[in-house]
Amino acid sequence: MAPGGQGRYHANKSLKTGILSIMHVELTTLIQSFENRTESLTGRTVALVAAIIADPVLHARFMNTLSMLEHMGSYKILETQRGAAIDQQTLKHVTEEARHAWFFKRQAERLAGRALDYAPAELVAPASAWLYFQKVEASVCRALGADAGSPAIYLLTSMIVEFRAIWFYRLYQTALDDAGFALSLKKLTGEEEVHLRDMAARLTDTATPSQVCLPSLLDAEQALYGRLLAGFERHCRRPASIAA
Ligand SMILES: [Fe+2]
Ligand SMILES: [Fe+2]
Repeated sequence: MAPGGQGRYHANKSLKTGILSIMHVELTTLIQSFENRTESLTGRTVALVAAIIADPVLHARFMNTLSMLEHMGSYKILETQRGAAIDQQTLKHVTEEARHAWFFKRQAERLAGRALDYAPAELVAPASAWLYFQKVEASVCRALGADAGSPAIYLLTSMIVEFRAIWFYRLYQTALDDAGFALSLKKLTGEEEVHLRDMAARLTDTATPSQVCLPSLLDAEQALYGRLLAGFERHCRRPASIAA
């Protein structure tokens, strides 16, 4: 338990807590804290995204990959939460993730000048992208234990992924602006921020054990994101990725 007189949160301490205390922290502070935790991967991510934006063929495939990840997010919600008990907030969430998938698909096809499907040749490191999602979910299942209900797994997995999505889309927006590429992620990023806060709020209503350690889950996610980033980097170095 927190000792008395230490109730003040700041950016470096706000994520060194259990998941339930997250509700007492401002969203901007939470996101800043996540940025500090993941700083070691920022430079490589910025360099990767800048190189991708500079290559229109690769950039179209990359947006198609982001579309696939958003699509995975939406169908995982439906797959695990469908049924009589599905509530309005969950339906809103699945709708917004599906729209994010549509948004990136539309942008990808506009840049490519043709239809793109989710076949490996039209994507950037699809196996790494798929593994990232699966393994984040597996790490949450392990942390929650065998008795965890499906709503708790859904809410906690979503919250962990939302941290990364907000961080990534902000970096991507800066890189797009720097390259003079006209694409606004403002609405999409705003919705991801609402999802993050919403997941944290709803977790307090589930039977999620309060001792589940958010920092260790974020550490696991960071390692998995590092592998995804390495997969993207390997793909972008391939000569075949430059060719049409
Ligand atoms: Fe999304
Ligand atoms: Fe989201």
